[in-house]
Amino acid sequence: MRIGIAREIKKHEYRVGLTPANARAYINAGHEVMVEEGAGINAGFTDEAYVQAGAVVESSRQQLFDRSDMIIKVKEPQPVEYDLFHEGQILYTYLHLAADEQLTKALMEKKVKAVAYETIEEADRSLPCLTPMSVIAGRLSVQEGAKYLEKPFGGRGVLLGGVPGVPRGKVTVIGGGVVGTNAAKMAIGLGADVTVLDISAKRLGYLDDIFETRITTLYSNEENIEMVLRDSDLVIGGVLIPGARAPHLVKKEHLKLMKPGAVLVDVAVDQGGCFETTHPTTHDDPIFEVSGIIHYCVANMPGAVSLTSTLALTGATLSYGLQLAGSGIERAVSESAALRKGLNVYDGLCVYRSVAEAFDIEYTPVEKILSI
Ligand SMILES: NC(=O)c1ccc[n+]([C@@H]2O[C@H](COP(=O)([O-])OP(=O)(O)OC[C@H]3O[C@@H](n4cnc5c(N)ncnc54)[C@H](O)[C@@H]3O)[C@@H](O)[C@H]2O)c1
Repeated sequence: MRIGIAREIKKHEYRVGLTPANARAYINAGHEVMVEEGAGINAGFTDEAYVQAGAVVESSRQQLFDRSDMIIKVKEPQPVEYDLFHEGQILYTYLHLAADEQLTKALMEKKVKAVAYETIEEADRSLPCLTPMSVIAGRLSVQEGAKYLEKPFGGRGVLLGGVPGVPRGKVTVIGGGVVGTNAAKMAIGLGADVTVLDISAKRLGYLDDIFETRITTLYSNEENIEMVLRDSDLVIGGVLIPGARAPHLVKKEHLKLMKPGAVLVDVAVDQGGCFETTHPTTHDDPIFEVSGIIHYCVANMPGAVSLTSTLALTGATLSYGLQLAGSGIERAVSESAALRKGLNVYDGLCVYRSVAEAFDIEYTPVEKILSI
């Protein structure tokens, strides 16, 4: 198969869909890899590195799209890219179609075979191509929070680890899933005093088992949230209710309970945010202040650490991509239930139920068209 790696054009997207090492894996499997000129540069990969791996560098986007059987990207195609696709082409990238009617319809019209990273789902319900980004956002949330606690950024001027004779900073993590667990891990590593709240007893039990006495676990309810807010230097929001908007667990009036210069990091901002005062920010202008509390609400946090994120993302997507390229999409989705869940649009049809329902378009089960 001819694989095309397109340069990302979305603002502040510095990742690339395939590293030179991964390009080599496709080439070793008998495929050709074409890379758009400069595609990897913001993630730290030069065109020469791709050439050394055996790929060809292409300066024309049109040529790259025209000649590729499968396009590998990171973010969803932007409107100016829609016309580059051709019928039967495989698109392998993050798509988030349920939030984008225009893109869904464009991919259907173009008869693209679109596999979304975020809906590839294993039998244990894990989302292998989405989880690494939550791990990164969770870990980064503490790093960013610690930075904005510094006085020059408007923070309280607190060092999370404290020093001998001086108390440690207090970190509260609301939501103890992938983001929350990784935030807790980093905050413990910095020497902070860490509390994690979740509504799931099972999840709290798991966190108590792995972190033992190094964290305090609490049921997430308004009383406990109000109690911990009074003392917290840094509060990280990482709740998720699948398929729903995040609940506002920290209300505007709660900010009055907090110490001036405390920091809120709302990782759940991409689902609407779990703090009432959240609004999405960008890496250009990541923070704002409400009632003396610093808010950090960047919706694509992993983009800030593009090298780590690219390595983590491409490590997760490689095996499924090789399956798509090696078997062809029809056989690959017949053989892999995980990839079948990843398929969103096929030959002009919407084959992912929640995307079809979001826009009231006809849903066609993959099983029906591919006679699986
Ligand atoms: N901003 C970014 O760049 C970025 C990056 C990655 C993920 N995210 C977002 O972070 C959020 C969390 O992702 P995740 O992978 O950790 O999800 P997850 O499903 O692993 O964890 C969510 C946790 O929230 C808990 N929860 C639900 N309701 C709660 C409540 N009322 N109080 C406390 N806990 C509650 C759940 O029990 C679960 O343990 C998602 O919205 C995800 O999209 C954002």
